[in-house]
Amino acid sequence: MPLDLKALVRTIPDYPRKGILFRDITTLIENPEGFKESVERIASQHRGKGITHVAGIEARGFIFGAGVAIALGVGFIPVRKKGKLPGETIGQNYALEYGVDTIEIHADVLKAGDKVLLIDDLIATGGTALAAVSLLRRTGATVDDAAFVIDLPEIGGASKLKAVHVEVTALMA
Ligand code: PRP
Ligand code: ADE
Repeated sequence: MPLDLKALVRTIPDYPRKGILFRDITTLIENPEGFKESVERIASQHRGKGITHVAGIEARGFIFGAGVAIALGVGFIPVRKKGKLPGETIGQNYALEYGVDTIEIHADVLKAGDKVLLIDDLIATGGTALAAVSLLRRTGATVDDAAFVIDLPEIGGASKLKAVHVEVTALMA
């Protein structure tokens, strides 16, 4: 029987604020089979596509992204929140529920011809992932694929990525 990954994700109501059903992946990653299987399923969906780099979004995208990079035998690029990277950076603003935030990558990390797979734990509004795709593409690299452990389809983020020609996969809704 295939492992039921969804059963390993815990849902916590009213976190971080009232009305939000928080999908908590800590229970998935503390299960060794669940964590391994999540990484392997994502990697197997993207083998043979010529991926040269995996980019993971801080913070939870680092957990799965690092594993997928190792499984695919490519390097890992941390897409970080503002002010954390030591070298010259390029940044992209994105809207939060209240206000704006900025993500950054090192300016010299990618070049034209590189083919990036974007990874995060979850897509909700898609604001974070869309900003990451725009940022990564500014280097000249190609970003045709994004993989998530969880998609919240009722919020519509995956459609926003598809509208900018990114193919989206998720292990569960
Ligand atoms: C969460 C999640 C995604 C993003 C999804 O990260 O890990 O990165 O929100 O939301 P969106 O599709 O509406 O943009 P968060 O900003 O909470 O940061 P964290 O991983 O550091 O907790
Ligand atoms: N990030 C945005 N929405 C989320 C949710 N419902 N659960 C976990 N992380 C999130």
